[in-house]
Amino acid sequence: MAISRKGILLAGGKGTRLHPLTMDKSKHLLPIGSFPMLAYSLCTLLQAEVREILIVTNPEDLNTYQDLFGDGFAWGCSLHYKAQAKPEGIAQALLLAKDFLQDSPCVLALGDNLFSGPSFKDLLQKANAQNQGATLFTTLVSDPEHYGIAEISASGKVVSLEEKPCRPRSCHAVTGLYFYDEHASSLAESLQPSERGELEITDLNRLYLEQSQLTCIPLPDEFLWMDLGTLPALKQAEKNASLWEQQLSHVAPWVALQKQLGPQIQLSLSFLSKETFLQFPEEGVVVQGAVEKRVKDFSSGRAVAHKALHHLGAVPHPLLSSPQGSPLWPKGYVGSISHTKNAVGAVVGKQKAEGSENYLWGVGLDLEVAVPLPEKLHDKILTSMEKEWIQSWTGSFPKALLAKAIFCLKEAVYKCMLPCGNEGLGFQDVSFSIVESGPTPGCFTAKIHPEENLRKRYPTSFQFQSQVALHGETLLALVSLNQNN
Ligand code: DAU
Repeated sequence: MAISRKGILLAGGKGTRLHPLTMDKSKHLLPIGSFPMLAYSLCTLLQAEVREILIVTNPEDLNTYQDLFGDGFAWGCSLHYKAQAKPEGIAQALLLAKDFLQDSPCVLALGDNLFSGPSFKDLLQKANAQNQGATLFTTLVSDPEHYGIAEISASGKVVSLEEKPCRPRSCHAVTGLYFYDEHASSLAESLQPSERGELEITDLNRLYLEQSQLTCIPLPDEFLWMDLGTLPALKQAEKNASLWEQQLSHVAPWVALQKQLGPQIQLSLSFLSKETFLQFPEEGVVVQGAVEKRVKDFSSGRAVAHKALHHLGAVPHPLLSSPQGSPLWPKGYVGSISHTKNAVGAVVGKQKAEGSENYLWGVGLDLEVAVPLPEKLHDKILTSMEKEWIQSWTGSFPKALLAKAIFCLKEAVYKCMLPCGNEGLGFQDVSFSIVESGPTPGCFTAKIHPEENLRKRYPTSFQFQSQVALHGETLLALVSLNQNN
């Protein structure tokens, strides 16, 4: 059985091989496509099912990374940060992470290594399933003197490990993704600095090898692995930018969507992982993370959630309306409350019956604190059909709010699709039109028109139902999804 590991993401070092590009900025902030380099190695850890991650970087870059990645909420993980006073070696990260790890097994990822291949998930699962020792990934290279090199016997066993050898014994390079058991930090304590003054990761791996506790997984031939330490590699990665971006949008769909929207607007709602969604607890959940950090916005968020739940026909838990305490969702519901600078939102979801593939999402947005959907974003969010339909609107639902309503409905659709694999969907993949008055005043049924991309991904097996309603200052958008097969 796979064990739960913590992650360490390395974003320190001097990046001297990339001077002058890295004279005034950390290497891992250099863009590859629309995201900084580090975003992609963060995705590697997420693909390995790691959800608790420590980013280790230089003291002067710490704030930049914190601003960029925050507490990890949008990425569906929890991020922590630690400064490395001097770049004294990759293995030093395991010493710096000792408190964070608390003797749990871990995955260490170098922030300048990129991985892509169809079988990646399976390989990660294989490494995750190793409860003991260390597991490394190797790949064949033409310039072995630049990497950690593993000599591998005919039976696939590692015979020796050397860091950047002058006379390499093989061409099997050790890539920058290391799976360790709970002993990694204490083993790292016994390491001595190498001739270049660093605690070498290869020395740590050799300790595992000496105890016959080292497993090596060769990456398949068709696999793409890159170490972005040099300018030619960086240029090559840029050429493949769409590949990395596509991978990112699969792993962190909300971040990709947010990027589509640009800096003017942020998704108002927080990320709720597929795992959380599917683990519908019997007695409601305390949604951590959002709860602890955003306390001051919670009374407003709770009110929104309260209305959304009420509209979904659920009796909200008393704590949802109380000024103190964490929100507790009624039995069978999950949810989260979040805020950005400009909006407070709540999302609640329900799985109709245990085991059934039926999802219901409600999105609430507090209009008092929400900015209107800026005109210049309409092109990004609305399809031409929606724009035409808004133009011709004569119904009682306020025309000025229609774009916002569609935005909320689309968010609800994406939340709904999440458990079914919401991968790479964009705002142009569904269109809405409000077609008829709903059961209560101010409440309308919205018809959903799936566009080509959505139809291709999720053929006829899905049926949507949706509603949009204005309750005082709260805009509610509800979407339910039935999977028929
Ligand atoms: O890319 C794979 C190779 O990575 C392995 O084959 C080698 O065994 C391993 O030592 C490493 O070699 P590099 O020469 O590529 O390491 P580099 O100094 O470039 O650092 C790798 C990453 O770790 C990079 O993202 C910067 C970060 N780093 C490095 C050091 C030395 C830190 O955050 N702190 C450090 O002290």
